[in-house]
Amino acid sequence: MTDVAITDITARWVLDSRGNPTIAATVTAGGCVGSAMVPSGASTGTREAVELRDNDSAFHGKGVTRAIANVTDEIAPAIMGMDVRDQQAVDRAMLELDGTGNKASLGANAILAVSLACARTAARCSSLELYAYLGDKRVMPVPYMNVINGGEHAGNDLAIQEHMIAPVGAQSFARAVQMCSEVYHTLKALLTRRYGSPGVNVGDEGGFAPPLSSTEEALDLIVKAIEKNGYGDEMTLALDAAATSFYRRGRYELGRWHTREELLAYYEQLADSYPIISVEDAFAENDWEGFIAITEALGDHLQIVGDDLFVTNEALLSRGIERGACNALLLKPNQIGTLTEAMQVAQRCRDNGYRVMVSHRSGDTCDAFIADLAVALGTGQIKAGAPCRGERTAKYNRLMAIEEELGGDATMASLR
Ligand code: PGA
Ligand code: ZN
Repeated sequence: MTDVAITDITARWVLDSRGNPTIAATVTAGGCVGSAMVPSGASTGTREAVELRDNDSAFHGKGVTRAIANVTDEIAPAIMGMDVRDQQAVDRAMLELDGTGNKASLGANAILAVSLACARTAARCSSLELYAYLGDKRVMPVPYMNVINGGEHAGNDLAIQEHMIAPVGAQSFARAVQMCSEVYHTLKALLTRRYGSPGVNVGDEGGFAPPLSSTEEALDLIVKAIEKNGYGDEMTLALDAAATSFYRRGRYELGRWHTREELLAYYEQLADSYPIISVEDAFAENDWEGFIAITEALGDHLQIVGDDLFVTNEALLSRGIERGACNALLLKPNQIGTLTEAMQVAQRCRDNGYRVMVSHRSGDTCDAFIADLAVALGTGQIKAGAPCRGERTAKYNRLMAIEEELGGDATMASLR
């Protein structure tokens, strides 16, 4: 036994931001205690690691008692006594214990909760802040804030899921947050004027969910809000189409039915008309040809992000690298299920010229692990929703605390 050997592991359920249960795990080692809570997506990729749910009557099937039991009865005995600082060995032990390719046996939610809690405990044992423990970069990311919600995150007719603002010219992270908050509130005033109070109900990620049906209308309003604040030179736009959600039998329903070629032409037209710098999940998760085509057509000047396409999985990223699909990956630790694998896929991106954007999930908690992860990996980009709702602001507030603590040692990422 080392003096940082794991001596205790507990797990319990907590509620996520949509009111569904999720797992919180706590790991004790060397007298240090660390906890972590895992998030949960709605527009999930089919190749994501398995989120284990009870599928019985409790919580309409969403209970996590089996996953919790897997932590206490299976995982705990297997990793007890291991050095909590040896993240790779701990994660490997859990992978071996699970024995499936997609964590279907123990559940990626069970495994990730323990994986992240181990990192927190190890950071404490090492007397380091989490970001300093996780990596040696000190880069504050540009926040991509989803200010108008659509798709499966909102009850409106917007097919495109996320309309984001990215303050790429901000000189500091705190300044970036201020700019986004100001634009968010100007947008709120514009929407109230046009739709009254129902126009400013918010969606799952804290962005407004107004009764709009076209992305152009949403982008026009956002551009207006940016201009009213005088941020036209420093703030750009980004989209997450989450196109799997409006794809049926080879066609995309976006107002009317589009072929792949028509959808690509539509993105080209949007990119010509608006200051868009990044488009995520432009095509459905199995439409590799679509991703290859848009990367070829727009990849030189736009970031083309794979989320449901790659699901933070190195094997799928490899296929993307080989085939020229996308030039960036969305990094969601719970899509793959261990911290080690999430960090490896980020490294693989760096080695192959792919950018990385660290991401929350639409169902999230106030755990801000991804804030520290983004700084430590130096990804330069994070998306964590609007500057609204506690589980979203938890990430941004943590990043501001990190920036203040780092002082002159922090560099603000610039994407210009
Ligand atoms: P999800 O949405 O968490 O519901 O998957 C976020 C995204 O698609 O990026
Ligand atoms: Zn996405």
